[in-house]
Amino acid sequence: MAGSRSSLRGGVRRGLAGIAVPPAVKLSRQADARAAAGDAAGAEPLYAQALAADPTLAGTHNNRGNALRALGRLDEAAAAYRAAVLHGLHEGMAHYNLGSVLRQAERQDEAEAAFRQALALRPDHAEAWNNCGNLLRDLGRFGGAAVDYRRALALRPDWADAHDNLGAVLYLLHEQGGEEDAAALARLWRRDHPDNPLARHIGAAIAGEEADPRAPDDYVRQTFDLFADEFDRKLAELDYRAPALLAGLLSDEEPAGDLDVLDAGCGTGLCAEALRPYARRLVGVDLSDGMLNRARARGLYDGLHEAELVGFLATHRLAFDLVMAADVFCYFGVLDDALAAACAALRPGGRLAFTVEALDPADGRPHRVATHGRYAHAEAYIRTAVANAGLMLRRCDRDRLRFESGEPVTGLVVLAGRPAG
Ligand SMILES: C[S@@+](CC[C@H](N)C(=O)[O-])C[C@H]1O[C@@H](n2cnc3c(N)ncnc32)[C@H](O)[C@@H]1O
Repeated sequence: MAGSRSSLRGGVRRGLAGIAVPPAVKLSRQADARAAAGDAAGAEPLYAQALAADPTLAGTHNNRGNALRALGRLDEAAAAYRAAVLHGLHEGMAHYNLGSVLRQAERQDEAEAAFRQALALRPDHAEAWNNCGNLLRDLGRFGGAAVDYRRALALRPDWADAHDNLGAVLYLLHEQGGEEDAAALARLWRRDHPDNPLARHIGAAIAGEEADPRAPDDYVRQTFDLFADEFDRKLAELDYRAPALLAGLLSDEEPAGDLDVLDAGCGTGLCAEALRPYARRLVGVDLSDGMLNRARARGLYDGLHEAELVGFLATHRLAFDLVMAADVFCYFGVLDDALAAACAALRPGGRLAFTVEALDPADGRPHRVATHGRYAHAEAYIRTAVANAGLMLRRCDRDRLRFESGEPVTGLVVLAGRPAG
């Protein structure tokens, strides 16, 4: 991130009749022009010349710091910002610039002191609170980081990055033994930002408060739009197997290529290759435009729709012979509406194949949202919900869906059918 610039304080204004612009100021202005054009390498020696002629130009020290930082000369940049402060630029901006470059140089203690100084001078600087939070997060001080992110959000309530940062750090705090502190902070997050999808969903999960029956649409959209570019690579790293396991359920039958198939929550289209041989027509539906763009690039779908899948299914009665939902119902707690809509969208004899993450029966609940925002389901609940939706359970296997933090994630791999006739 570029440092904040300073104009020449107390400098001589151009155009004031009879007053000459000192050479140091002229040089500094030439340097500013170069820097503004993105030429840090050209600007820096001009700043140095200006400061050799007049070392008291505080703003020039600051702007030279920016140029040095852009050139990756971090320690020299830090020295330049300190010189700016020494020569009177005792403003939040100079301390903030100093904190940012010290953080980049991994001089964390000095960086924190500089950020705190910046915030003492300018407590309304949301970016400084956020960056201070990032610094504490990197140092493993998750509770302190959360407090700083909350300050940033008090100033900029709609700042998606700061919400993202706060959610991530509360998750870490919770995972690393700070459950109570994380829950208390999550409750405050939800209270202060009731309309923010991340605060609502992840906040509830971490606070241990009642979650929505399924993840809010705007949470899903935002999460996967951000994740889309990395999704395939990350999932391959985690040895993601849901599409292959579901394809395995279908493999007892030779694909005739005559089915109308829906890939529900198709994401980037990882199921498309397995589904294509069965399909006369292969359609995908997903909430995330970013994921759909990736799916489109595969060139395997006959149609792709940006829509919520329960609503989509409900408006496509008797339209499909096969519906697949790989790793999608983990964004649902209550499955009744989704399964009933899937049943209604299937033709008699049609099949629904899906995975969920398995909830330990010892938990005692039908489903539970975890602090990372996904739900897990008890096998007994799945069996009942499938039956209640009017579907017949054909298979409900336990298998490894993928790894997470090095641990296997066990799932239920389910095949159900709409009774024929
Ligand atoms: C973990 S990804 C799985 C994608 C794909 N099925 C696969 O196996 O690679 C979950 C996908 O479900 C989508 N999704 C979650 N809830 C949804 C809903 N209610 N309606 C439509 N799409 C949804 C997300 O946008 C995301 O693309």
